Amino acid sequence: AGIDSLGDLRGKRVLVRSDLNVPLDGTTITDDGRIRASVPTIRQLSDAGARVVVTAHLGRPKGAPDPAYSLEPVAGRLSELLGRPVAFATDTVGASASETVTGLEDGDVALLENVRFNDGETSKDDDVRGAFADQLAQLADAFVSDGFGVVHRKQASVYDVALRLPSAMGGLVAAEVDVLRRLTEEPERPYVVVLGGSKVSDKLGVIDNLIDKADKLLIGGGMVFTFLKAQGHEVGKSLLEADQLDTCTRYLEEAADRGVEILLPTDVVVDTAFPSGDREPQPTVVPASEIPADALGLDIGPESAAAFAAALADARTVFWNGPMGVFETDAFASGTRAVAQALTEVTTSGGLSVVGGGDSAAAVRQLGFDEAAFGHISTGGGASLEFLEGKELPGIAVLERG
Ligand code: 3PG
Repeated sequence: AGIDSLGDLRGKRVLVRSDLNVPLDGTTITDDGRIRASVPTIRQLSDAGARVVVTAHLGRPKGAPDPAYSLEPVAGRLSELLGRPVAFATDTVGASASETVTGLEDGDVALLENVRFNDGETSKDDDVRGAFADQLAQLADAFVSDGFGVVHRKQASVYDVALRLPSAMGGLVAAEVDVLRRLTEEPERPYVVVLGGSKVSDKLGVIDNLIDKADKLLIGGGMVFTFLKAQGHEVGKSLLEADQLDTCTRYLEEAADRGVEILLPTDVVVDTAFPSGDREPQPTVVPASEIPADALGLDIGPESAAAFAAALADARTVFWNGPMGVFETDAFASGTRAVAQALTEVTTSGGLSVVGGGDSAAAVRQLGFDEAAFGHISTGGGASLEFLEGKELPGIAVLERG
C-alpha cells in the first residue's frame, strides 16, 4: 500500500529507505540521478509534517565505518535538491542518530550515515539482521520503502525493518514496479531487448526469462565477445567468460528454434589496450570475425550501431540494460550513443522505452541525453534485472504480504 495508508503523519517519525548509492570521485558526486529520483517521496513526507529519517547505503563497505564510503557528501546534495536543510547523523543507530532524530521538528529531514557500516545490515543470519532492524525501528514510528535499487536485497533496512513498523511503498518503488510490469505482462510488440555490459553471467536469468517473450534480442558490450567466441570467432584480448561458452551456444540455438532474432555486432571498435589515460585511445574498426590477436573490443562498430538502430526503429516496447562499449571514453561511446538515440525515437513514435541499470542510466545522462526523451529510466540495476527475471523481490514481497 502507498504512503496514504499510514494515515496522518504530522509529528510522526518516518524512516525512509532510499537508494542513494551514487558514483563518487573522491567526495564529488559524478551522477546524482538516484538522489534526484529520491527527492519527491522525501519532500512528500516532509510536506505532510513527518519527521523524516532517511537511511541508505553507499557502495559495499565491509560492515564497519569506512570514511571512503561516507554518505556525508550525499547529505549536502540532497539538501540542495530538496531546498531545505538535511541533518546528517555520523552513525546509523548510535548516539548521533538518536540525538539527530530527537532534534527533528515536524517536516525536518535527517540522513543517517551509511547503513552498511553496520554488519547487521547485510548479515545472512536472520537473528543478527533482526537485532539490527530492531535498533533501526526504534528510531521511527513508520517505514517507507522507496529504494527501488535495493528491493532485491534481503537486508535489514529493506526487509526486516518492514516487519517491525507500519510500512508503505514509496512513490518511486510504485512507479518502477508499474513500468516493469508493463514489460513482463503483455508488452506491446515488437518487443526488443538490448543487453550490454561486461558479463554474460550477470544476464543469464534475464536472457532465460526474456528469450521467449522478446521478438528481438540485441547484444553488445563486453559480454558480446563470449557470444562471438561461441560462434567460432577469435576475440583477441577481449573480455571472455570461458565458462559461459556453452550457455551462449545454447541461447543462440534456442533463439533460432523459437524464432527470436538475436543480433550480434558484425563489426567492433578495438584498441590494443584498455583506455587508461596513459595514452590517447587508438580506436580501429574491424569485422567482428577478424579481431586481431593483440586487440580488445571496446565498442560495437558503426555498421552494427546502424543495424541495432534499424532493429529498434519499429519497436513498440524496448528494455535496455548495459552499455554497448566503454562509453566513459569518447572514442568508445558511439555504440551506446546510437542505442540511446534509437530509444528516444521509440519514445517519439509513441512506444515505451525503458533504460534499466545504473550503468546505462548514467550513460544516457553522461552522453547528454534529456531524461524526458525516455519512457522510463530505472534507478535499479540488479533490481530491475531480477524483476524481469520474474524473481520475487524480498523488499516488495514484504510490503505486499497480507
Ligand atoms: C545498485 O547499485 O544496484 C544498488 O544500489 C544496490 O547495490 P548493491 O548491489 O551493492 O546491493
